[in-house]
Parts: sequence; C-alpha cells; structure tokens
Amino acid sequence: MPDYTSLYASWQTAPDAYWAHAAKLIDWDVAPTRIFDGTQGPYGAWFPDARLNTCHNALDRHVAAGHGARTAIIWDSPMEGRVVEISYAQALERVKKIAGALKKLGVQKGDRVIGYMPMIPEAALTMLACARLGAIHSMVFGGFAPPELATRINDAKPKVIVAASCGLEPGRVVQYKPLLDAALALSDHKPDACVIFQRPAFQGALTPGLDHDFIAAEAAAEPADCVSVEATHPLYVLYTSGTTGRPKGVVRDHGGHAVALAQSMHTTYGVTAGQVMWAASDVGWVVGHSYIVYAPLLVGATTIMYEGKPVGTPDPGAFWRVVEQHKVNTMFTAPTALRAVRQQDSEGALIGKYDLSSLNALFLAGERCDPPTAIWIQKLLDKPVIDNWWQTETGWPITSRFLGLGLTEFKPGSGGRPSPGYDVQALDEAGEPLPRGNVGNLCIKLPMPPGCGPTLWQNDEGYVSAYLKSFPGWYRTGDAGMVDEDGDVWIMGRTDDIINVAGHRLSTGAMEEVLAGHKDIAECAVIARADELKGEVPCGLVVLKAGVEREPEQLVKELVALVREKIGPVAAFREVLVVQKLPKTRSGKILRAVMKKIANNEPVVVPGTIEDASVVDAIRDAFAAPH
Ligand code: COA
Ligand code: AMP
Repeated sequence: MPDYTSLYASWQTAPDAYWAHAAKLIDWDVAPTRIFDGTQGPYGAWFPDARLNTCHNALDRHVAAGHGARTAIIWDSPMEGRVVEISYAQALERVKKIAGALKKLGVQKGDRVIGYMPMIPEAALTMLACARLGAIHSMVFGGFAPPELATRINDAKPKVIVAASCGLEPGRVVQYKPLLDAALALSDHKPDACVIFQRPAFQGALTPGLDHDFIAAEAAAEPADCVSVEATHPLYVLYTSGTTGRPKGVVRDHGGHAVALAQSMHTTYGVTAGQVMWAASDVGWVVGHSYIVYAPLLVGATTIMYEGKPVGTPDPGAFWRVVEQHKVNTMFTAPTALRAVRQQDSEGALIGKYDLSSLNALFLAGERCDPPTAIWIQKLLDKPVIDNWWQTETGWPITSRFLGLGLTEFKPGSGGRPSPGYDVQALDEAGEPLPRGNVGNLCIKLPMPPGCGPTLWQNDEGYVSAYLKSFPGWYRTGDAGMVDEDGDVWIMGRTDDIINVAGHRLSTGAMEEVLAGHKDIAECAVIARADELKGEVPCGLVVLKAGVEREPEQLVKELVALVREKIGPVAAFREVLVVQKLPKTRSGKILRAVMKKIANNEPVVVPGTIEDASVVDAIRDAFAAPH
C-alpha cells in the first residue's frame, strides 16, 4: 500500500482511475466500463453499466475460494450468556434458506423488507438474504417506539417485516412483537407478512395469516440463488433524523457501496481477510450496516456481533474481555461508551487484566470525541486511537487516520484527514472556501464518492434541498468545523437542530412536535445540554396554554412519558422546564441558541432583534432553580 499523501494525490489527479482500481476488490457479474455518470440522480451515479450482487461478494465468493470454514460471525451475547460462531459456509447456507423463505412470501428484486431486530446473527443474515434477492432492507433500531417504526413502514412500504420477538436490555426484556403490532395498527401501509424470530426470553403471539415463525420458515424454504442487480440498484434504505420530525430514508446502492467499503477496510481500518473486526454498535445504525455486517464480510474477515453494553454486562471490563476472547484486531466504538467505562474504571484496572496484544487500533466515531477521553484511552491502551468522522448519508468515513496507510498520528479533538474520495472544505455563508483555520460549514465537493447515499428514498428533490441547495457544487454535511494548517479536519458541532445523544442521532424538531402535541402546551423548544456521559442530552422548555394551571411535577412526568412513547427510550428525554415565555425575535423566531448557551453556562450575547430581553433572565432563573 502507498502512503496516505500519495494515495490521496492519486485520487485527486485521476478519480476515475482511482475508483476503477478499487473496483477490482469486488467480483462483478458485468464489470464496469464506465466509472461515473454525472447525469443521473441528484449528483450522479457510480459504475452505471456494471452488475453484481453484494451477498455474493460477502459470502459466496469466499466459500467458493475455499474459505468456507473461516468464521464469518461471532455472536457474543452477555445478555443471553452465549457465544456462537458461524462459519462462512454456515452463514451462506442459512442466508440461502432465509432468502428462499422471503422469496416464498413474494419478496422480489426491488421489494422492501423492514427489519426490527436486536443484535442477533439473524439480523445480519436477514440483511444479506435481502441483498441476495435484490430486495431492499430497511433496519429500524430497537430503541425506537411504535410511531417511529410506523413512519418508516409508511415510507418504505415493505412487502415483509422481519422482527425478533424481543430485545434484551440490562434489567428488562424489550418486547418487540407487541411494539411491532402497535406500529402496524398505526401505519396506513400493511405488509403481506411478518416473520418473527422467537427468542427464549419472550415469545410473541403470532397472528394467523400474517405472522410466520422465522426458524420454521427458514427450515421449510428452498435455497435461493443470488439475483444479479445493477450497481446502482438500492441495497438498503436507512432512516435517519433530519431537521424535521420526518426521518430521511438514506438510500445505499450495491456497487459503489461494495467498492467503497472494501477499499476503506484496506486503507482506513487496515483489516484484511481472516482478521477480526469488532464494531461495538448496532445493526440499527449506519456503523452497524457498514462495519458490523457488510465491510468485514466483503473482505473475508470475521465480524463480531455483541449484544451487551460497555458497562454492567457484567462490568466495565466487558470490551477488553471481548477483545481478548476473540482476538480482535480492529475495534470501533463510540466515545460515549468509553466515557461510561472511564466513569467506572478510571485507572483502567480492568484493561490491565486482559491480553490485548491482538488489537491493532481503536477507532472512534458517532460523535465528537472529547480530548480527555481520547487521551485517557490512548495512554491506557498504548495503541493508535483513531477518530473518524462520517454520517449515515456517507456510509463510510469522510475523515480519519489511516491504519492501512501508516498514518496514525494522534491529534486528539481532530477528526483526521479526508479519505481519498472526499474534498472537504469549510465554506463561508456565500459558499466560498475559507482559509485554513477558519470555522465554517463543512462541505464536500461534488460528486460524492462511491458508497455515499445517491439520494433519499423516492425523494430526489428532498435530497437536493437537504444537502445540495445551500452551496451549489457542494454537499452540506450539516456540521460546522474547520480544516487546519496540516489539512486535518475539526468538527465543532451541528449547524441544524440535530443532536447527538450517546452517539445516537436525534432530531430536537421531532421532540418538539411531540411536546406540542400535549393538550396543555402552547409552545415549546428542545435544546441540547452538555452531558458528561452522553455528550448531549435533550432538554425541553414548555409554555402552558393561557388559563391552564398544572402542577409542574406531574406535567413533566407526562411529557417525558410522551416522548418515550412517541419516539422511544433512545431519546433519553428526561428534563423539562415549565416557563412563562420563550425568548423570541421580533419576527417570532424562537431563540434556541440563546437558551442552549444559558443551559450550558456559556456566555450569552442577547441579539438586538429580541422581542423582550427580560425573558432571557427568566430562562436563566428557571435553569438555576431546582427542577
Ligand atoms: N432496544 C430497546 N431499547 C434500547 C435499545 C435497543 N436496542 N438501546 C437502548 N435502549 C434503551 C435503553 O434501555 C435505555 O432505556 P431506559 O431509559 O429504560 O434506561 C434508553 O434506550 C437509553 O439507552 P442508552 O443510550 O443506551 O443509554 P444507557 O444509559 O442505557 O447506556 C451507554 C449508556 C453509554 C452505556 C450507552 O449509551 C452506550 O453503550 N452507548 C454507545 C452507543 C453506540 O455505540 N452508538 C453507536 C454509534 S456508532
Ligand atoms: P449519524 O448519521 O447517526 O452517523 O450521525 C452523523 C453525525 O454525527 C455527524 O454529522 C456529526 O455531527 C456526528 N459525528 C459522527 N462522527 C463524528 C466524529 N468523529 N466527530 C464529530 N462528530 C461526529
């Protein structure tokens, strides 16, 4: 492998040649003769005349090459107290049959299949089975409540839904089947069938004519072959929080995705066939799609699916136990998880208990990693600690350090250098690149590289207005930051109302919609408060309707319960302040930034456009008072 600087330069000089070379990592049914077509979709299409199947590349080709006995998936579940190893040959056998079961239920190329599943092997196998048929999966994180699931069902219009009967959270069994039934009662679209994987902790009641038992359906099915699809054919849709209550369905294609992920495994993560990668995330998030399921399998590595937490399952040594037991080479987690470990094992006593000699590097993403946490873990591990910045829309790192290219310099607080494929600049409000060291809107020069979402599900216009309209010729990431003198990118925070709670992306707009739906609330705002563990947590400020008198404690309980019921426990919405008025401009715009500064004890500059400056003091008093 060349070094980072020369590889990046080679991409800059000849991007098509760079991606044509990377495309050799993939088996094509029809190899690409054209690399990029700028006339298709919102910004273009990669490998427009090629055909392939992602499942073939993730499983069949490794078995055909004689690696069937190699471990594909290690399921490690402290929640069930089990470890299960699945070889490539076993994974292929099961995926063929699961695909056959879906086919028998009518699933064909282009049909959508929603997955509502916890961290069990069947989640990954179902995703691969969909890929095998050319069906489009859409996984929904288990921490979302029925209304969020219903929104996704209505948008994706799945032919079939695959769910587990339950998920296991410390201290409670999350009964998914009743949540799914509740979502189906709320949704206008109804699937033809649901396939339920029954787990020992809770067995869901199956509705005759609609629900099928996963294991029975798999056992009875004929194995299904791979369906060859266009490289531009959607592999999946993953919904993520946007700036409104309605989530965005980010589309991922087969061809660009396979090429970009395989390339990133070599350059960024330094993972090759036979090695072990562990991304401690969830199949409901993009990290789970890319680096638990697809990327490790595309390169013939072993992936770990961990159903547990960084702490409490059973202790803050859980991560290091997994690394030692499964000889993990590359690990990936969210800074929040490390902060949780640090709170309970600040001296790293448990880190010292395990043999971590297999570990080459620790990658961190999902939220900004605060330097104290990065420095703490780097000292204790004495291995490269690598922050990488990306988002659901991009599917793989925009910036990082590059283990496979020998660039591992530790610069805590920075997100690293752009991956070859990305030209990242901080733009001013007029769309001009700012000189290095100046903070602006972090944007990526078009076209986006392969693997990035080409559009939103059946919504090209929505893609253009969300990402391309603000700065013509550029993709707006929604993050603010700067590029420093060395070319390293620093990510400072969002420029919109998305917040990041424990590495989970959430919309404050969606929470405001829920609060505004309460019968006693006249108006409201949700802002992010800094949190030592979760990075950010939401905080609601509500104004009661005229004439309504409520005992605040009871009202707050109702509002907290409402957000949990409508969005889900993952929102971690626990704090609400009842106030007389919200600060607004004279034109009626709520000054959320002012409230956020007050909440976080930052200096506040009251804008001259404020309607009533005394409201600022009242908000300050409300935060200072016990609530
Ligand atoms: N299904 C159902 N509920 C879920 C869930 C799932 N898959 N994941 C989380 N929840 C629930 C939790 O049980 C919790 O519910 P509670 O309010 O009843 O306690 C709530 O959602 C919030 O969960 P979480 O954010 O996990 O907070 P926590 O306090 O339980 O744990 C950490 C704190 C730091 C241990 C945890 O946030 C963590 O591991 N974070 C890392 C996140 C991560 O890896 N993100 C991936 C991005 S790359
Ligand atoms: P998601 O789409 O859920 O992956 O969330 C993407 C958002 O998380 C980004 O736009 C950033 O705001 C934030 N994020 C992800 N990784 C990082 C990182 N390494 N540093 C700073 N912010 C990050």
